[in-house]
Amino acid sequence: MQQPIGIFDSGLGGLTVANAVQKALPQERIIYFGDAAHLPYGDKSAATIQAYSVKICDVLLSKNCKAILIACNSASAAAYELIKAYVGSRAHVMNVIDPVISFLFEKYQGRKVGLIGTKQTVGSNVYAHKLADQAPSISFAALATPLLVPMIEEGFHNNSISEVIIHQYLSDETLNGIEALILGCTHYPLIQSQIEDYYQHRVDVIDASQIVAASFAEMLAEKELKSTGKSEPNAFLVSDITPSFERAASLFFGHKVHLEKHMLWE
Ligand code: DGL
Repeated sequence: MQQPIGIFDSGLGGLTVANAVQKALPQERIIYFGDAAHLPYGDKSAATIQAYSVKICDVLLSKNCKAILIACNSASAAAYELIKAYVGSRAHVMNVIDPVISFLFEKYQGRKVGLIGTKQTVGSNVYAHKLADQAPSISFAALATPLLVPMIEEGFHNNSISEVIIHQYLSDETLNGIEALILGCTHYPLIQSQIEDYYQHRVDVIDASQIVAASFAEMLAEKELKSTGKSEPNAFLVSDITPSFERAASLFFGHKVHLEKHMLWE
């Protein structure tokens, strides 16, 4: 099916997920929407995130997207059920949390797993509830690490400053005894190797974007929605733009992207 896929996030961090999706599905055309005018979502209320997410879905549906992937953990936690009901049969909606729950169910029964994410993601308790429901033998601990997003956005990753902050967070006793740590935020793949260094490879550090991309590809195949080839290039829409954005976008996506401004409210 030659329609594009829509991927959205509060800003540019979701391009880590878009990158993983593009690698898993090179023939798919991506329409990415980054709500840079309203980021961060991680500190906002569920109601506000839901309102923005509905507007973004309107944009993606107007571009004829056959499937919508909520790349943002905070929006997946706060708005997935609402978005799914809102979009209805117009497109398939997926979040970044359910594929991780299935992965944990398969690999970590009876073990302790940790998660780091924004205040919204951790405070929503969505992971905890889903695990209690679907994989109750997994013991789960979550820690909000709100400084990591601004730290990464300001270019502090893989240096001594990020090392101190990561160390401070990960030494929190909440995470004692974990055997795996889920990176529950779009930005964290950029500090994955520093987190692995902290744990000296004694803990599995799980990049959710890879799991999500594989599961999204499976879903398209199952529903017979896969494209055979791209007829147009990807589009990267943002609700606000500054001169530094394209550089940041290239960092998250892994190669150069051209951003187009698209207001959420006309
Ligand atoms: N995209 C958000 C997430 O994955 C992080 C940035 C934000 O707080 O908006 O939770």
